[in-house]
Amino acid sequence: MKIIIAGARGFIGKYLQEYFAEHQLVLLTRHPSCNEHYWNPEQGVLDPQLVEDVDVVINLAGEGIAGRWSQAKLRRIAQSRYQATSLLVRTLAQHAKVKVYLGASALGYYGADRGSIELDETSCSGEGVLAPICQHWEDLHMSLPNTRVIVARFGLVLGQGGFLKKLLPVFRWGMGGIWGDGRQWMSWVAIQDVCQILKFCIDNPAVTGPVNVTSPQPVTNLEWTWILAQVLHRPACLRLPKHMLRALLGASSELLLGSLRVYPKKLLDEGYRFSQPSLEAALKTLVDL
Ligand SMILES: NC(=O)c1ccc[n+]([C@@H]2O[C@H](COP(=O)([O-])OP(=O)(O)OC[C@H]3O[C@@H](n4cnc5c(N)ncnc54)[C@H](OP(=O)(O)O)[C@@H]3O)[C@@H](O)[C@H]2O)c1
Repeated sequence: MKIIIAGARGFIGKYLQEYFAEHQLVLLTRHPSCNEHYWNPEQGVLDPQLVEDVDVVINLAGEGIAGRWSQAKLRRIAQSRYQATSLLVRTLAQHAKVKVYLGASALGYYGADRGSIELDETSCSGEGVLAPICQHWEDLHMSLPNTRVIVARFGLVLGQGGFLKKLLPVFRWGMGGIWGDGRQWMSWVAIQDVCQILKFCIDNPAVTGPVNVTSPQPVTNLEWTWILAQVLHRPACLRLPKHMLRALLGASSELLLGSLRVYPKKLLDEGYRFSQPSLEAALKTLVDL
């Protein structure tokens, strides 16, 4: 298969490159080195020849969301995704006949905080800073005509990099602790499952539209903290109060304090079997690497 990966240099993209290595890969980046191809969504640059005869497109591109959200940062978070997706969709619609298009989205679609309500793909979108961005991003993915489009609503992806890269050292120093009251739900997924889930979606013609890419066992922040501390054999007795996190992170504190209890209904209905459904086992695998 010929597979295009946009955003291939990022955390998830690097794992996918390895996982799909036996295929013909076209890697799109704004800073190419050998084996990579230049594109520039901001300037509308993408060579149409690259998309000829492509079978699968995986679109992960977008400005990282970590850190404080200034107005300028939020504009970049939104615009980078809209520009990259619009350019890809436009070019594919004009120059290619893709079998499967897989676009990234996030649980932010469901809003910033939905308490302990169990959410699946049939749940409505919610309110928050990221929700309208995710909604528009998903609409752009879905606008690709005559193609099976899958929108992967990623949970917190656990692998070597990403969110854990920042968190593990803190816990290793014994400075870990709960955020706020610790009752907020965290919906996570192991990177090993992310790769297998994307392949499952590509191979299974019944899978289409939004798909929650999350483990079937979301946890509360209290459980998360306890399990991570156990796995690292470190104490995690601190409590970071809400007001402190809000003062430190501003609006982006919703990522730590918001509660999203999300289930991968579509994947389970279609018969996907998780390799790493349990947080403890997933963290042990990563910490031992
Ligand atoms: N990791 C997670 O836990 C998680 C959770 C939910 C959703 N997601 C979503 O899944 C996608 C992939 O996640 P990730 O963790 O792999 O992200 P990442 O490590 O930040 O990588 C994103 C990629 O997007 C490209 N990019 C950044 N700014 C861009 C811009 N202005 N225009 C075009 N491309 C740009 C970069 O490629 P170049 O610099 O090489 O061009 C980068 O490699 C992201 O869109 C993210 O929002 C991730």
